[in-house]
Amino acid sequence: MLKSSWLRLAPALGEVLLLTKASNTKRRQLVVGNWKMNGDLRENAALLKAITAGWQGQHGADVVICPPFPYIAQTVDALSGSSIMTGAQTVSEQEKGAYTGEVSAAMLADLNCKFVIIGHNERRRMQRESDQQVAEKFVQTQRVGLIPILCVGESLDDREAGKHLQTIARQLDAVFERVGKAVFSDAVLAYEPVWAVGTGKTATPAQAEEVHQFMRAQLGELGEKVRILYGGSVKAHNAEQLFALADIDGALLGGASLDADEFLAICKAAE
Ligand code: PGA
Repeated sequence: MLKSSWLRLAPALGEVLLLTKASNTKRRQLVVGNWKMNGDLRENAALLKAITAGWQGQHGADVVICPPFPYIAQTVDALSGSSIMTGAQTVSEQEKGAYTGEVSAAMLADLNCKFVIIGHNERRRMQRESDQQVAEKFVQTQRVGLIPILCVGESLDDREAGKHLQTIARQLDAVFERVGKAVFSDAVLAYEPVWAVGTGKTATPAQAEEVHQFMRAQLGELGEKVRILYGGSVKAHNAEQLFALADIDGALLGGASLDADEFLAICKAAE
């Protein structure tokens, strides 16, 4: 992938001149596939088989697959012997007890899950998860040694009103207020503009870089160390250009994670 210091990006990406990764970038790229509510035992087995076959041996990027809860054991099992790790799509903000239908962080750790997506916009919007609940989920995830992938992102209204950074600051502050910033050394962030998720629209490099740089500034001292993924209609055809940007450390994928060839092409672009 492109490692030059400065790059004139393709006209399709907006004819902007942006700082791209220096060759000494230290953050290892990470690609996370979020299957959402898709798949069944048979389909998953075929998809996992194709992905592991295409990602054998040593690689220059980390890969995580997040299946629905019922298929976590199947995924962990299919990925054993590969470097690909398993994650969950959400977790309960409670530790244990009478919470019907919920799944605890300890249960996920017990199944050998390593990551948990937290605060995905579909859950913030459809399940009405508040910033405070998201913060509690972050706490539970780290309490058992799992790595949270904390998602933030603005709606189209916020973006059009020029309030996108305000929204992101609010979502981050809720977690900072609960846990501080130091614990982000064991966390991953993901910027997912709501208007780009599942819509085929991708943030321009300039839009993504603005927010990623803002998030690094919010993290303070850890800003340069934390991996910040971009999510929202990342596909094989646009992954390489996004990954070349200085502040993008990989991707959180929805649709593209359900197709082995597409997924592997993106993982390879991240190396
Ligand atoms: P998408 O989803 O890649 O299908 O846009 C991204 C996400 O929800 O993480």
